[in-house]
Amino acid sequence: MTDGLPMSVPAEGLPPRVRIHEVGARDGLQNEKTVVPTGVKAEFIHRLATAGLSTIEATSFVHPKWVPQLADAESLFPQLTGIPGVDLPVLVPNGRGLDRALELGARRIAVFGSVTESFAKANLNRTVDESLAMFEPVVTKARATGLHVRGYLSMCFGDPWEGPVPVDQVVSVARRLLDLGCDELSLGDTIGVATPGHVRTLLSALNEAGVGTDSVGVHFHDTYGQALSNTLAALQHGVTTVDASAGGLGGCPYAKSATGNLATEDLVWMLEGLGIETGVDLGLLTATSVWMAGQLGRPSPSRTVRALSHQEQ
Ligand code: HMG
Ligand code: MG
Repeated sequence: MTDGLPMSVPAEGLPPRVRIHEVGARDGLQNEKTVVPTGVKAEFIHRLATAGLSTIEATSFVHPKWVPQLADAESLFPQLTGIPGVDLPVLVPNGRGLDRALELGARRIAVFGSVTESFAKANLNRTVDESLAMFEPVVTKARATGLHVRGYLSMCFGDPWEGPVPVDQVVSVARRLLDLGCDELSLGDTIGVATPGHVRTLLSALNEAGVGTDSVGVHFHDTYGQALSNTLAALQHGVTTVDASAGGLGGCPYAKSATGNLATEDLVWMLEGLGIETGVDLGLLTATSVWMAGQLGRPSPSRTVRALSHQEQ
């Protein structure tokens, strides 16, 4: 190891470059008990951009009562314009959310569907069918306006109410989201129960149903410490878009067993070691997460952040 980076030893069968979809400011901060001040969020996102992250999910235009932590979307988003070369996707569940996002000039949105009925009800107050019907005009209007649309699928590997989730059920909702017009999908392991064989099986099943790996990203929460192994399995399958959260922030307020996402630092450490380009400066990113941990008043759960910053365990 030199200068806070692992020795680079490439391995066969992996992509040369990975696009990191940074979700700390959205998935991370939506789950904080306290509401982080808007200025701190803006500084967080600016620092993430300076560290080289080029896709930073900024906030959500959801009902403010459902996610009070992100109720400041209207005042935050204008503070982010002018970050050069950075995409700032935002979550949008319905027409009202899309209108709010469009008014502020958002160029990328994400709708967020569930593979299971229980989570669709808990998170969107809708059945799976009703939520897809809610997304349909949103995706159509967004695409007509030239926006890029991501479609999240939650509970792809297991659900806290329903238990194991059949692969066919995931494939069916994935196809329906793509058929609505989503540009890309993100496969959410909301409660972190996936393991690598399961990841490969799902990706193969999606391919068999005509869903190309190039339209799929992965979104692993790290509840059982499997997120990095699952990511490697996805990379070996050809996935090149990986969601991660600076410092391992994250969770979902409507799924109790959800903990933080794969930490971006842990991901970058592995990718650096494999010689895979990310464009991210690990030192600047770690400093950002240490700063954010100070704002939140507790240490980052990321092993890499702790190792690089010599934080107390
Ligand atoms: P609802 O209560 O069914 O809402 O909630 P509604 O459609 O009946 O509307 C009720 C009122 O809310 C109306 O106002 C609407 O205008 C207003 P009224 O006419 O009564 O005065 N309203 C809104 N106001 C502002 N912005 C809006 C909006 N929509 C309606 N967008 C709703 C349905 C979808 C709104 C609600 O369930 C909601 O906001 N859910 C969001 C939950 C959420 O954000 N969860 C976390 C993100 S998902 C996640 O973290 C998983 C992920 O990371 C992947 C993974 O890990 O698996 C993505
Ligand atoms: Mg998530």
